[in-house]
Amino acid sequence: MSNNARLEYAGKSYEFPVKKGTENELAIDIKTMRSATGMITIDPGYKNTGSCESAITFLDGEKGILRYRGYSIEELAEKADFLEVAYLLIFGELPNQEELDKFHNDIKGESHVDEEMKKILDGFPKSAHPMGVLTSLTSALIAFNPSSVNVTSEKDMYWAIVRILAKFPVLVSWTLRKKKGLPLDYGDDTLGYVENIHKMMFKRPNHKYEKNKVVIDALDKLLILHADHEQNCSTSTVRMVGSSHAGLFASLSAGIAALWGPLHGGANQAVLEMLEAIEADGGDTKKYMNKAKDKEDPFRLMGFGHRVYKNFDPRAKIIKKAADEVLGDLGVEDPILEIAKGLEKEALNDEYFVDRKLYPNVDFYSGIIYRALGIPTEMFTVMFALGRLPGWIAQWREMRLRNEPIGRPRQVYIGHPSREFVALDKR
Ligand code: SDX
Repeated sequence: MSNNARLEYAGKSYEFPVKKGTENELAIDIKTMRSATGMITIDPGYKNTGSCESAITFLDGEKGILRYRGYSIEELAEKADFLEVAYLLIFGELPNQEELDKFHNDIKGESHVDEEMKKILDGFPKSAHPMGVLTSLTSALIAFNPSSVNVTSEKDMYWAIVRILAKFPVLVSWTLRKKKGLPLDYGDDTLGYVENIHKMMFKRPNHKYEKNKVVIDALDKLLILHADHEQNCSTSTVRMVGSSHAGLFASLSAGIAALWGPLHGGANQAVLEMLEAIEADGGDTKKYMNKAKDKEDPFRLMGFGHRVYKNFDPRAKIIKKAADEVLGDLGVEDPILEIAKGLEKEALNDEYFVDRKLYPNVDFYSGIIYRALGIPTEMFTVMFALGRLPGWIAQWREMRLRNEPIGRPRQVYIGHPSREFVALDKR
């Protein structure tokens, strides 16, 4: 039997090869479709369209499976740390101690951010949303790191990657500290990568920085869980912008902007705001469930549903368990957690959600932990971006090393047919 897919149209028959992935996913390769048939496909939101072949992350939405370079998210969250996972995603293998030490030392060596960048940060009002500040600062970094723009060799890509992994956490901490009116900090190269991030964000002036293993471990695990997720909206944006060879920092700046949306990474902030509204409303979860099901009401149950997962998001399961552990270890009593659990329980027994296979996603419980760690709600999506940074980098690097063509989709035109120009005095 031919391994091709056949298309019959207007009395003609066309065949297209079928690709099979590592986990036996099948894809019809339509590279020759327009030249062979004169037709294109159309698929708003790309729900059925693959943009690339990738060796980085595997998701199975039906079974709730997530693997980075073949390793399960459950194992990595338990046994690895975030910098190891970043190395794995970007370079394809778990590093040995020597490779990890070199990677970390190279990052430490590049953690300086030009003082002039502070003038750009100072230009923002305190009311500016941190995601808007960060997408701007990431793009502004280009001006101070021109050698990281037109990178074509693997060596130049490596140093551009090291620079952004070093500098982005500084920008994140500066954005938070500016909002809080705290002096900007450079952190401490004697600390671990995530520990240093936490210190840069939270060290208070005139106070000794107190290491808290529970907090650092929770942060490390959350960053791992957010590190990559194949061709989601923001990653596809990074690949699209990168495909024009606009450079790594510009591609990442675009990815941060895409992640900001409440349907994507912005959902973790929207979930907390929704849970707080329910709490303020006397915990009336039924009312919000009904709003979510009402087609006339634009309200959605934030943190629920997913384009790929039609089962539990494996990350949500890990984060829900971690929320209990972290709040317990920190002695934090947060009624919001119980409201979230009540909402989940109701939704999982509600026909509307069950029929549409709407389960809690990565954003449903993450904000509860961030809040317990002292991270302000407006910074939740920034923490998502901090976690997703290595994934965006890995996907950008894969796309560039494979010399993928510039992304340029086609369209079906539904506007006016040709018509004559009408002079202004005749309209
Ligand atoms: C992330 O893609 C990724 O991998 C993303 C991400 C990553 O790691 O990069 O996993 C991170 O973005 C997670 C998703 C965070 N977003 C939210 O929690 C926002 C709330 N969720 C939705 O808006 C929605 O579920 C999406 C955007 C996540 C997915 O939307 P789809 O796949 O386009 O599905 P859809 O909008 O077509 O919904 C299908 C049906 C519709 O009802 P019907 O028209 O069939 O009657 O389900 C309904 C929707 O109205 N629906 C919801 C709902 N989500 C979907 N109804 C109420 N509440 C919801 N949350």
